[in-house]
Amino acid sequence: MSAYRETYESWKNDQDGFWMKAAEAIDWTKPPTKALDAENVPFYRWFADGEMNTCYNCVDRHVEAGRGDHTAIIYDSPITESKAEISYAGLQSQTAQLAGVLRDLGVEKGDRVIIYMPMTPDAAVAMLACARIGAVHSVVFGGFAANELAVRIDDCKPKVILSASCGLEPGRVVAYKPLLDGAIDLAEHKVSACVIKQRPQEAAAMIEGRDHDWDEAVAAAKPAECVPVGGADPLYILYTSGTTGQPKGVVRAAGGHAVALHWTMGNIYDITRDDVYWAASDVGWVVGHSYIVYAPLLIGCTTILFEGKPVGTPDAGTFWRVISEHNVKALFTAPTAFRAIKRVDPEGEFVRKYDLSCLETLFLAGERADPPTVEWAREQLKVPVVDHWWQTETGWTITGNPTGLEMLDIPTGSAGAPMPGYDIRILDEGGNEVEDGTLGAICVKLPMPPASLPTVWEADDRFIKSYMTTFPGYYETGDAGMKDKDGYLYIMARTDDVINVAGHRLSTGAMEEVLAGHKDVAECAVIGVTDDLKGQLPLGLICLSNGVDRPHAEIEQECVARVRGEIGPVAAFKLCKVVERLPKTRSGKILRATMVSIADGAAYKMPATIDDPVILDEISAALGDLGYAKS
Ligand code: COA
Ligand code: AMP
Repeated sequence: MSAYRETYESWKNDQDGFWMKAAEAIDWTKPPTKALDAENVPFYRWFADGEMNTCYNCVDRHVEAGRGDHTAIIYDSPITESKAEISYAGLQSQTAQLAGVLRDLGVEKGDRVIIYMPMTPDAAVAMLACARIGAVHSVVFGGFAANELAVRIDDCKPKVILSASCGLEPGRVVAYKPLLDGAIDLAEHKVSACVIKQRPQEAAAMIEGRDHDWDEAVAAAKPAECVPVGGADPLYILYTSGTTGQPKGVVRAAGGHAVALHWTMGNIYDITRDDVYWAASDVGWVVGHSYIVYAPLLIGCTTILFEGKPVGTPDAGTFWRVISEHNVKALFTAPTAFRAIKRVDPEGEFVRKYDLSCLETLFLAGERADPPTVEWAREQLKVPVVDHWWQTETGWTITGNPTGLEMLDIPTGSAGAPMPGYDIRILDEGGNEVEDGTLGAICVKLPMPPASLPTVWEADDRFIKSYMTTFPGYYETGDAGMKDKDGYLYIMARTDDVINVAGHRLSTGAMEEVLAGHKDVAECAVIGVTDDLKGQLPLGLICLSNGVDRPHAEIEQECVARVRGEIGPVAAFKLCKVVERLPKTRSGKILRATMVSIADGAAYKMPATIDDPVILDEISAALGDLGYAKS
C-alpha cells in the first residue's frame, strides 16, 4: 500500500488514535486524555481536556531545546529595500515584551485584540504576544477600509488594537492611522487602547490617553510568561467573506490548530526544522496565519516574511531572488502571483538569472490553479507544482499532495487527494452521493478534523446555518466539484456569492449591499467575471431609481469609489455599468449565473423560468461596453 493510502487508512480506522499520536509533537502543560469531544454535536471540540500554549510551542520550547540562535523569521522587504533576521531567542524576547505591554493594558486570557498591521515582523510578534497571554487575536488585512475594520471591532469587541502608522503599496504609502481612527469612530464598541508602531515612511498622529507608542511601551514593559489555555480555547478569530456584508468570524481553537498544523509541515510540505519555508501571502489571510506564522514556527524552521509584490518590487525576478538568497526549499503562493510574473516575463528571463537549485516544490492554493499557469511554473522552475485546496474555515489542506509521505501522481487540474481528517463526499441537491465524474456540492462528513472552525464567533446559529444545514451530518464547503475514479478532487466553482479576486476571498453580496446604499441605485447585481490576471473580478450592474437624470458615468464612478471607500481597495471593484433592468426569473430571482456566462463568452442555456429573454441582449451590450461578453 502507498504511504499516503496507509496513512489515510490509519486515520480512517482510528481517528482518535491518529490525532492523539500527532498530538505528541506538541508540548502540553496538561496532556489531553482524548482527541475528540463529540458531546455537543455539531460543535466538536478537539483536545478539550488538554492545556498548552501556542506561543510556547512556536517559540520558547525551541529556545529551551538549545535552538535560540536558529533563525525564526527572515524579513525581506523589497518595498523598503530592507532585510532583517530574527532568531528564536530574539523572537522570544520581543514576544514576551509585547505580551507584557498587553498585560499592562489590562488584556487577560480570553480578551480579544485586533491586529491591523502591514507585513513586518511586528505583525507576527503581535500574534504570538496575544497567544502568549491567552488573548484571542483577530488580524484584519490592511487592504480593507475603515468600515470593514469597524464591523470587526463591533463583532469581536477587542480591548486593545495593535497597529502601525502605515503600510506600503507600490507607489503609495497607505496611512493606516486615519483608517484606524475612522473605524474606531464608526464602531459602537469602544476600544480602551491602541499600540502604534511608528514606521519611518509616515508618522501617525497619536490620540492622547488612548494611543501608545509601540517602541516606548515595549521598552518599558516587563516580559510576560506563557499562560496555558485549554485545548479547545480560542487562539484567534479570522473574519472571512460570506454571502452578506457581515463577515463570518472563523474561530480557531488552540490545541487542534497546533496539532494539525504541526502534522502538515512534515507530511504535506516535506519541511524539517532545518529548512527555510516561504508562504508568499499576507498575515491578514489564513495562508499567512497558518504558513507564514504558526506552522513553520511550531516545527522550529525558518519562515520568510515578505513585504512586496511578485512584480514591480522592483521587478518580476523578486521571487527568484528571495528563493536563491535565502535558500528556500518550498514556496507557497496563489496562482495569481505566477500569472502576474508570467505576464511580465513570459520567457522566464528573470528565472534564469538566479540559482534556484534549493527549491524543491511549489505549492499553490487560494483559487483555482489554471493548467496553463501550472505548466508554465513547472517548465520554468523545473520542480513539482502542487495544487492544494483549503479554506479559512479549515486552516489547512483539505485535498492536496502529501509530498512528505509520497509524491502522488495527480493530474494537472485536480486539487489532489483528501488529507487524513477529511472524508469527502460529493452530494446532489437531495444529499445523495453522486457518481465519480459527476459535479456536485463538495461536503465533508462530520466531524471535521482538528483546527477546523468549532463555530463562528458568538454566532453558533450562523455556524449551523452556513455550514451544517443544507446537508445534515456534513460540513458544506461552499465549493462545487467532482471526484475522479482515483478519488482526486476537481474544484469547479463556488455555490454561493463568494468570488476569488487575486486569491482574495470576497463577497459579491457585500458589494451589492454597498451599491444599494447609493441614493440613486434602485437595484443592482454584482457578478464575478473571469480575469486573466486575478482569476476573477467583480462587475456591478446597477439600475437607477425613477427620475434620476444625472450622467451615468458620474454615478458609475461614485459607485466604484463607494465600494473602495467602504470595503477597501482589495475589492478591486472598478467595473460598473448602469442598465435599464436586470434579468430575472418569473419569481423575481436575479439571474447572476447567466450574466456570468454571458460576460465570460461561455455557452449557456436560456433559463426556462426567465421573465423576459430580451433583457439578456441589453445585458450583453452593457457587458460589451465594459470589454466583456466577447464570444
Ligand atoms: N494594504 C493596503 N492596500 C492594499 C493592500 C494592503 N495590504 N493589499 C492590496 N492593496 C490594494 C492594492 O494597492 C490595490 O490598490 P489599487 O487599486 O490602488 O491598485 C488593490 O488593493 C488591489 O490589490 P491586489 O489585488 O493585490 O492587486 P495588485 O494589482 O496590487 O496586485 C497581484 C496583483 C497579483 C500582484 C497581487 O494580488 C498578488 O501578489 N497576489 C498574490 C496572491 C496573494 O497574496 N494571495 C493571498 C492569498 S494566498
Ligand atoms: P479562503 O477562505 O480565502 O482561503 O478561500 C477559500 C476558497 O478559495 C475555497 O472555498 C475555494 O473556493 C477557493 N480555493 C482555495 N484553494 C483552491 C484551489 N486549490 N483550487 C480551487 N479553488 C480554491
